Amino acid sequence: MFVENTNTGIIPEKEIFENLLKDMESLLEENTPPLSNISNFISLINDAFRKISWIGFYFAKNDILYLGPFQGKVACTKIKIGNGVCGTSAEKRETVIVEDVHKFPGHIACDSGSNSEIVIPIIQNSRLIGVLDLDSYSFSAFSEIDKIYLEKLVKLLTDKVNFESFTI
Ligand code: SME
Repeated sequence: MFVENTNTGIIPEKEIFENLLKDMESLLEENTPPLSNISNFISLINDAFRKISWIGFYFAKNDILYLGPFQGKVACTKIKIGNGVCGTSAEKRETVIVEDVHKFPGHIACDSGSNSEIVIPIIQNSRLIGVLDLDSYSFSAFSEIDKIYLEKLVKLLTDKVNFESFTI
């Protein structure tokens, strides 16, 4: 699949992700607070893809996901685990790809322009830290390739950043 990169024109999506992995590796700093790393993590991914209309983190505390750093329009601040796409991903601890959000039962519409979505759970030492949520104004914007590479990026994050004492 070929996509339009924000900076460099049309290049294969895999290539964009491979470059992102390398850049992320040097961007993330060990011994730096999670919020600082997460803010840069989101910015780097957002800058690489025009298809993203919103990208951000929700952090888990008890049975609620709370809005964390993001890029895009204002969003809902609390989502119950089990609700919406984010809550479903958090509950199942699985990545969820939604090709058409209007067909997803219980989808929470923060931005009515959003048409597709992918949510990746963030888990460290078996603890659910939260989820990474990406939205697009295009239908079916996210594929298996996005799933594979976004999971790799999240793995890089949880390998480098210690969330042990982090609470929202
Ligand atoms: N659509 C999400 C809510 C979060 S926003 O997209 C930023 C959901 O259904 O969980």
